[in-house]
Amino acid sequence: MKNEEFLKQFNEKLAKLIGSSTKVEEAMNYSLSSGGKRLRPLLIKLSSEDMSVKIDLVWHPALAVELFHTASLIHDDLPQIDDSPLRRGKPSCHMVYGNDFAILAGDGLMLKAFEVLSLSDATPLQKAVLFEVFSRATYDVLIGESLDVEYTGKSEELGNVLRMYAKKTGALFAFCLACGPILSERFDLIDKLSKLGTLLGVWFQIIDDLKDLLADEKQTGKSVGRDKILGKPTVVSIMGVQKAQIFADNLFKGVINRLEKLQMKELTGFLRSFAN
Ligand code: IPE
Ligand code: IPE
Ligand code: MG
Ligand code: MG
Ligand code: MG
Repeated sequence: MKNEEFLKQFNEKLAKLIGSSTKVEEAMNYSLSSGGKRLRPLLIKLSSEDMSVKIDLVWHPALAVELFHTASLIHDDLPQIDDSPLRRGKPSCHMVYGNDFAILAGDGLMLKAFEVLSLSDATPLQKAVLFEVFSRATYDVLIGESLDVEYTGKSEELGNVLRMYAKKTGALFAFCLACGPILSERFDLIDKLSKLGTLLGVWFQIIDDLKDLLADEKQTGKSVGRDKILGKPTVVSIMGVQKAQIFADNLFKGVINRLEKLQMKELTGFLRSFAN
């Protein structure tokens, strides 16, 4: 299936997951339908395609990861965390529905993610592994985001910041790349692809930090300049723009090389064009 067709069907399925009878559901649907690149669902689709997994098995983990990711953004934007009023080209969830409903909408999307995963048609063994890996990844996002809050306003060493990135952003990427081996029962490859996913997430977070400093809100569709104002230690604040860019490029090349050695053709083809 072509990526465009996947995204079209994915968005149709996503739009049907949450009811519409309450304000909290309205808030959840508001954030889900506000766009977003759907990068994590695509990574699941591509890693699965490269391991000859049927598309029927891709939808549930892809929907679950996007639900959880969207929830993490709603919470991340709250005044108590990053205080970001713009997200996905529209006012952030709390700007429209208030902080109380934004907290609840985030909670709701996180809980829905687990329900959706439970409805997968994968075999009991595949499902058990999916649940284990997804549960751990989502918990790691929470720990990473908490470390981000803990480090705010402090100077931290590079190693701690990279470990924080590996959790807050790398963990979901690790889950996405692990879906191919899980759903094709190539259990020997789960660790390897998870590690490459983590590194890819760290790369993605450094690029995001560069955009926070250098891009404008029209380009990103979200509040920028927040990291500096809030005093966040980032790879960019520690290394400077140029070195951070070189560090990110090397990280990306290393990941792509290793994915190519594993014959992950669809995934590497997509990542190369995404990075340009
Ligand atoms: C934003 O993720 C949060 C980070 C991990 C940097 P994305 O850039 O994937 O956000 P959307 O889903 O496209 O809005
Ligand atoms: C990533 O960090 C957020 C999560 C993993 C929840 P950022 O705070 O940099 O993400 P943006 O820039 O707000 O999208
Ligand atoms: Mg943040
Ligand atoms: Mg933020
Ligand atoms: Mg950012």
